[in-house]
Amino acid sequence: MPSGKHTVAEKAWGGVFDESTDRRVEEFTESVSFDRRLYAHDVAGSVAHAQMLAQVGLITSEECRQIEQGLDEIRQRIERGEFPFSVELEDIHMHIERALIDRIGDTGRKLHTGRSRNDQVSTDLRLWTRDAIDRIDRRLVALQRAFVDRCDGDFDCILPAYTHLQRAQPVLAPHYWLAWCEKYQRDRQRLADCRRRVNVSSLGTAALAGTSLPIDRHDVARRLGFDDVAANSLDVSSDRDFVLETVFALTVIAEHLGSWAEEWILWSTVEFNFLKLPQAFCTGSSIMPQKINPDVLELTRGKTARMIGNLQTLLVLVKGLPLAYNRDLQEDKLPLFDSVDTVEAVLELAAGLVAGAQLNRPAIAERLDRGYLDATTLMEYLIGRDVPQRTAHGVVGRLVGEARKQDVRLADLPVESFTAACGELDERVYDVLGVERAVRAMQSYGSTGPDQVRRQIERWKELLESGHSGPRTDDEANHD
Ligand code: ARG
Repeated sequence: MPSGKHTVAEKAWGGVFDESTDRRVEEFTESVSFDRRLYAHDVAGSVAHAQMLAQVGLITSEECRQIEQGLDEIRQRIERGEFPFSVELEDIHMHIERALIDRIGDTGRKLHTGRSRNDQVSTDLRLWTRDAIDRIDRRLVALQRAFVDRCDGDFDCILPAYTHLQRAQPVLAPHYWLAWCEKYQRDRQRLADCRRRVNVSSLGTAALAGTSLPIDRHDVARRLGFDDVAANSLDVSSDRDFVLETVFALTVIAEHLGSWAEEWILWSTVEFNFLKLPQAFCTGSSIMPQKINPDVLELTRGKTARMIGNLQTLLVLVKGLPLAYNRDLQEDKLPLFDSVDTVEAVLELAAGLVAGAQLNRPAIAERLDRGYLDATTLMEYLIGRDVPQRTAHGVVGRLVGEARKQDVRLADLPVESFTAACGELDERVYDVLGVERAVRAMQSYGSTGPDQVRRQIERWKELLESGHSGPRTDDEANHD
């Protein structure tokens, strides 16, 4: 960045100062190296502000036109990479304002009427976050779609499901896929709910107390597509709840992605051998020629760490801050930007991985009989014959113990074992044993029974086909 060319008077706040700023202070306090990402939203906020100023008569419509045109040219210069950034001008807001003044003179000096950088940065960040939420929502839908698109093809595949990572009960593969869809749906609802508080206008609260000028904050809010106008200037000047909430919602998404990645890393091992990952999403080893490593999934899991770090940074940043704006708040952007970038990148690859992975059906089927996945269904069969649950649990537990000693399936035990274990059992017990029968026996709402899963697949197809423009909360969805 070029060395100091602006004198004391050239700083936007230069009037009261006799001394020019120490170069090290400029470098320490600058934010333009990262908040330049807000340029488009800064321009949009300024255009709406200028239009409102013209509307209420604080500037003329000709002045407004000059401001709009000047800002548009600046935006284009930034986009062409021709805009000079320098630490003396601190942040993106000062850069754009200075460039405007350099371009259109005194008219440019009127743009900051009735606002301060405190409400300006809050507005920019709200607009930027709103766009980010909408982009991430679309990526979540794409990931859900990748899971739903697998469901019909994988319908007849039964997987062992786990608790404590020990084989528990059999489920249909689409039941597994839709479990992830449900998690990402809650993520979408969280984002939609948080978006309501993001989408509130802070512009015109000025520094912290509002302004004595006759501005129209509701007019500005409408122009920028905000749903509401913040009602207390002192509160909103210091408010970064919307950043905390967004980053929290993103961190939960990362947690979900990380758990899914962990599961698929395990599933793609020789030991599990459930899944073949698409090679385009794997990397190799520089020394072991045979290796095909799930690095994308490992980094998906690993990046959860920085997401949690970003959330913690923000929580500590605002802890104990007095009202209203404090410069500490400038530090909110890096963790927000990083969390958005990270989740977006991971989501994009996740959809491709889900679409490209192949279930290794023979290997799964071959070992499906291991682990007594049908034991719980046998217990429920006894309950159906009026055996109390605790008693039935004990009976099946003893039968599993017997089978395990002989290293056979429950279905391989002789009928005498069953009749000896419980008077309610006879040769008909073989009709309920085995994983396929165990899956078919399921009937409760939300279970892995084929009818239930088929209904859920239809529900998901409809949900994803109903195509809407952005994230919605449950309430909003229910009003359709
Ligand atoms: N760059 C600052 C930030 O991101 C803008 C607001 C500065 N306001 C002030 N009064 N110094 O927070």
